[in-house]
Amino acid sequence: MVPVTALKTKAASPARAEWIDTILKGDCVAALEALPDHSVDAIFADPPYNLQLGGVLHRPDQSKVDAVDDAWDQFASFEVYDAFTRAWLLACRRVLKPNGTIWVIGSYHNIFRVGAKMQDLGFWLLNDIVWRKTNPMPNFKGRRFQNAHETMIWASPSADSVATPSTMTP
Ligand SMILES: C[S@@+](CC[C@H](N)C(=O)[O-])C[C@H]1O[C@@H](n2cnc3c(N)ncnc32)[C@H](O)[C@@H]1O
Repeated sequence: MVPVTALKTKAASPARAEWIDTILKGDCVAALEALPDHSVDAIFADPPYNLQLGGVLHRPDQSKVDAVDDAWDQFASFEVYDAFTRAWLLACRRVLKPNGTIWVIGSYHNIFRVGAKMQDLGFWLLNDIVWRKTNPMPNFKGRRFQNAHETMIWASPSADSVATPSTMTP
């Protein structure tokens, strides 16, 4: 998911020097917990979708759809997904600077749950941005509208934060 992006900051500390401009691999919550409080300017997260696929998907010609069925997208229930979401959002919240900024992208499967959890934890939602897919999955069965976008939530740690799109520019 890579939910933390360490951007260069002016105030350097010995602890920060060890991780700035570095890709930290591993569980995102554990990686975030190793970072100092209020040390991160910007977070971009693309968390698991929780697609809840009920088996193999086939196209009308019976060919198999290469859908996301990886272990990282398997959650036993909405409660389990919500607990996971809460854990990484809390970890993000602790490391974000007061005027930091967070972007979270998701599909209709998860973005509403993630957005609600962000509000529950005190994040202040600033905008939702639509990423329109120019090459979306075809509408195989014709029983729904084509799923041709994802939604990005842009938020700050609190209503008092001063975040503008320009604070995204390193
Ligand atoms: C929706 S995909 C995002 C993919 C990403 N945008 C990319 O282009 O590689 C979700 C990603 O979250 C990762 N992931 C799931 N659980 C994680 C965790 N606890 N810690 C870190 N990454 C995790 C998965 O491995 C997967 O790559």
